[in-house]
Amino acid sequence: MNLTLFGTGYVGLVTGVCLAELGNDVLCIDTDAEKIATLQRAEVPIYEPGLQELIVGNVRAGRLAFSTDMARGVAHGDVQFIAVGTPSADDGSADLSHVFEVAGAIATHMTSFKVIVNKSTVPVGAGEAVHKAVATVLAQRWPGAQPAPGFAVVSNPEFLKEGSAINDFMRPDRIIVGLGESPEEQRAGDLMRALYRPFGHGHDRVICMDRRSAEFTKYAANAMLATRISFMNEMANLADRLRVDIEPVRVGIGADPRIGDSFLYPGVGYGGSCFPKDVTALQRMGDDVGLPLRLLAAVAQVNDGQKRQLVDRLVQRLGPDFSGQRFALWGLAFKPNTDDMREAPSRVLVRELLERGAVLQVFDPVAMQEARRCLQDDLHDRPDLLARIRYAQSPLDAARDADALLIVTEWQVFRSPDFDALRAVLRQPLVVDGRNLYEPRSMRALGFDYLTVGRNAVDAPGATTP
Ligand code: UDX
Repeated sequence: MNLTLFGTGYVGLVTGVCLAELGNDVLCIDTDAEKIATLQRAEVPIYEPGLQELIVGNVRAGRLAFSTDMARGVAHGDVQFIAVGTPSADDGSADLSHVFEVAGAIATHMTSFKVIVNKSTVPVGAGEAVHKAVATVLAQRWPGAQPAPGFAVVSNPEFLKEGSAINDFMRPDRIIVGLGESPEEQRAGDLMRALYRPFGHGHDRVICMDRRSAEFTKYAANAMLATRISFMNEMANLADRLRVDIEPVRVGIGADPRIGDSFLYPGVGYGGSCFPKDVTALQRMGDDVGLPLRLLAAVAQVNDGQKRQLVDRLVQRLGPDFSGQRFALWGLAFKPNTDDMREAPSRVLVRELLERGAVLQVFDPVAMQEARRCLQDDLHDRPDLLARIRYAQSPLDAARDADALLIVTEWQVFRSPDFDALRAVLRQPLVVDGRNLYEPRSMRALGFDYLTVGRNAVDAPGATTP
């Protein structure tokens, strides 16, 4: 099938590359000429395991190409995927201007039947608005008796996780397809089923529903997952106060199939490009129809607090003023296997620690360059704070002479460090672990003062009931 992807961000690129890998002829369009030039050289602007190899292979095989030419993009694909960004507007709603720009271009250039697929996360009703916008332009282009070419607008939200996006795309749990009931939409439905059939591995993974429900499904899924995380973070904080170890509790509740065992890990709060933005956008949708979403407001509030948990723990140990103290940070990206710093809890932590006077030695296996860019941006008005960040060469280099080590992202490389070497380089053997990577008992046996999220009661000498 001939396919066009508009937007070579995370979602567009992964979708385009994976669809090419399955034998489709894919053209990816972006207005950012620099990005397209990078991709034409088969260089990848984002870090995602496996992506580079797939791009190189498919470009070589002639199934994948990149261009800035919108008209060429519209002419190429029977299916036109819109995968452009929908950033948060100032009021928290999703800004759809890029989506409408692409829809406008498709309507302006199309001369034959097109299936327009919305991959971007858009609020309920956006598909209808895109349909209307395209129909309006077509009516202007074909004012006479001659009928305009037909089209359909399909909602097909993505459920990719950064770091495992290729696998998520190639082996999806489900593929949501939202469409209307007109003959054009039904024709589009058949095309979508055919396009996605190979990804089902013998099972039909496509769930068809109406467009509004499909749009809502994406938000509801992410809001549910964000809720689980905030719930577990709150349980972990309570566990500490009640002298309970959250780890067996997590295993105990996760064994109930109604609950399931994934997404139950307490930590430093959720970040990334989806959960914070989608929770806010859903709240905004509730406000707009006079139904404030109290549960989601609490989910966001708990998450904000959780991003400061490690600082609170340090304050309990060291007092509120960190002047003259040096801390190591392991992990800056919002999660492992990505260099994505969007809404990363590390950004909140870094500012808070610096404002309290600390000197920071930070390390991330992949996100160093992106972190430097984001932190410079965050602290552009505070050069005095920026000057107190040192970008380290390795985990141990970061830990050297530090008064405490803070673990922020659970990269594999942090899971089994040389503990003797670590203790030797730290000025004080204090480890504040925001990801519960180690066994508290073993850490204490090794001589560390080890603080966790919800596991502080495990044989801790100082643990007290409230
Ligand atoms: C998420 C959704 O999972 C995906 O379906 C959607 O398409 C986009 O948003 P992503 O943002 O890539 O994907 O990351 P995910 O792995 O879901 O993690 C999100 C955040 O939750 C991270 O900050 C992670 O550290 C945190 N998290 C996740 C926890 O704190 N505990 C958990 O148990 C799981």
